Amino acid sequence: MKGIVLAGGTGSRLSPLTKVTNKHLLAVYNKPMIYYPIQTLVDAGIKDILIISGKEHAGDFLTLLRSGREFGARFVYEIQEEAGGIAQALGLASDFAGDDKVAVILGDNIFEDNFSAEIDAFKNEKGARIFLKKVADPNRFGVAELDDQNKIIGIEEKPANPKSNYAVTGFYLYDNDVFKIISALNPSARGEYEITDVSNNYINKGLLKAEFVKGEWTDAGTFESLFKANSVARKIALGLDE
Ligand code: G1P
Repeated sequence: MKGIVLAGGTGSRLSPLTKVTNKHLLAVYNKPMIYYPIQTLVDAGIKDILIISGKEHAGDFLTLLRSGREFGARFVYEIQEEAGGIAQALGLASDFAGDDKVAVILGDNIFEDNFSAEIDAFKNEKGARIFLKKVADPNRFGVAELDDQNKIIGIEEKPANPKSNYAVTGFYLYDNDVFKIISALNPSARGEYEITDVSNNYINKGLLKAEFVKGEWTDAGTFESLFKANSVARKIALGLDE
């Protein structure tokens, strides 16, 4: 299994913090933001990791992260030339992935959970797995629609009227078919290739399993979520209960 960290995008919701650097290089408590998703992959046993960034600050990622030796991992880098969405960025990982499955994590997502068990189980499965977390503001996210047995029946991207409080977090396990699915995708109304459309494709084939995140989770793409990310990261780093 290969790991992919998606760190493209312009970070416009965090301007002016993102005027001279990339969102994923900003500080979250005592580390640069991208350290957290990288550590989540490494802690789950994934050591071959592709980091995909936008073109503006790609050199800074290399300066910061280098070979990956400091993390006990091997890093490879790729550049997303235009900000065409998460699925477009993931499509750039096709050569890197070869015939392997992929564990994909968004560069602004901070998880407390360790996903080793889920990844080990997925090695013997087809399809995809995603991870849900109950949130107070679901309309900011991809939102899962669940049936009465808590089985996922669909995902809506940033719906005005969310069908549940379960956000789709930015950690995804896909088999190698993901690259065929991405190459057949059309852009959404906002002109982006959506990861939600990729996951819905697996749901429609009955090949997506959704699990629930147990520990803390947040993204960090807005001022409020970046503030929360700092307190979550501090709590994890210091082993605090609240
Ligand atoms: C992206 C995904 C969304 C997901 C979220 C998790 O949103 O499109 O489905 O819930 O990440 O962080 P974005 O951060 O691009 O707004």
